[in-house]
Amino acid sequence: MDTLILGIESSCDETAAAVIKNGRHIMSNIISTQVDLHKKYGGVVPEIASRKHVELIIPVINQALEEAGVLLSDIDAIGVTYGPGLVGALLVGLTAGKAIAYTTNKPLVGVHHIEGHIAANYLQYPELEPPFICLVASGGHSHIVHVKDYREFEILGQTRDDAAGEAFDKISRAIGLGYPGGPLIDKYAQKGNSKAIPFPRVYFDDGTLDFSFSGLKTAVLNYLNRMEQTGEAINIPDIAASFQQAVVDVLVKNTIAAAKLKNIKKIALAGGVAANSQLRHDMKEIAEKQGMEVMYPGLILCTDNAAMIGCAAYYEFIKGERAGMDLNAIPGLKL
Ligand code: KG4
Ligand code: ZN
Repeated sequence: MDTLILGIESSCDETAAAVIKNGRHIMSNIISTQVDLHKKYGGVVPEIASRKHVELIIPVINQALEEAGVLLSDIDAIGVTYGPGLVGALLVGLTAGKAIAYTTNKPLVGVHHIEGHIAANYLQYPELEPPFICLVASGGHSHIVHVKDYREFEILGQTRDDAAGEAFDKISRAIGLGYPGGPLIDKYAQKGNSKAIPFPRVYFDDGTLDFSFSGLKTAVLNYLNRMEQTGEAINIPDIAASFQQAVVDVLVKNTIAAAKLKNIKKIALAGGVAANSQLRHDMKEIAEKQGMEVMYPGLILCTDNAAMIGCAAYYEFIKGERAGMDLNAIPGLKL
């Protein structure tokens, strides 16, 4: 018999719901993005995000059920993101999930948002099974994860300051491209020269595969100040391409080093930054030369969505994981 999971996600500025069959098949995947709403503020405003989630959560869930052609009574369990993320935003999806579980008497499964991002790869590659190395890079996280099993993770490296996506967003704002920065920098970089400006790449020599992007961010800001003082014209595509290459080089090098460390030949990408065209290209080219296989989800499964949450919830559900009505939102939830 098929197992149907209703996935719910509201950790940041996407209100999303999806129906997933047997962990791997997307029956519906509804995402209502608030990007336009936050654009004029240059970033996500938590209070506005929460209020919008309240308005959208029920219509989005109803649409997910409708598009999947199922009723709430057909659903086997509800999987919902409970952290990490913005607390007010998380609480909306979580409360909706709890209310549905309570009123229908169906099991509730709490999902870690990063576990969801990793699971997006199972939806893209139905044959994929752990172990593999996953680079999770988004607006809030930059982790290199050894995915030992569906629910067993070892963090091999993480950012010590800004997340990769956060760096994209901040630099985009500084060079006047706006929000959200990742896709805009990606677009402008395609017309620029990635070798034009030698921005720094930070590697640690203390045996970790950690990242640091704040020095790079400062270097770009210093460069902009210098150009302004000397009155020289700035070339936006060149800055975008040079900055992007600096981020990508570090992400690729450390991820491949992690795969070598664990003697694993499968690398997966996840999170919003996994949508970056240079990262996808370079990771594939460089890792494949070393006999590794590189996977990345389609663009819609890289950024926040509820299909990935439904998939991760399935693997928790079949192992008997159940959350109580006391499940709370945990903004800083650890993997
Ligand atoms: O996973 P996500 O939707 O939300 C979080 O969990 O944070 O990731 C959003 C982040 C933003 O910082 C956005 O600028 C970045 O992913 N992003 C990209 C691209 N598309 C989205 N960064 C680089 N290149 C892209 N094409
Ligand atoms: Zn995310």
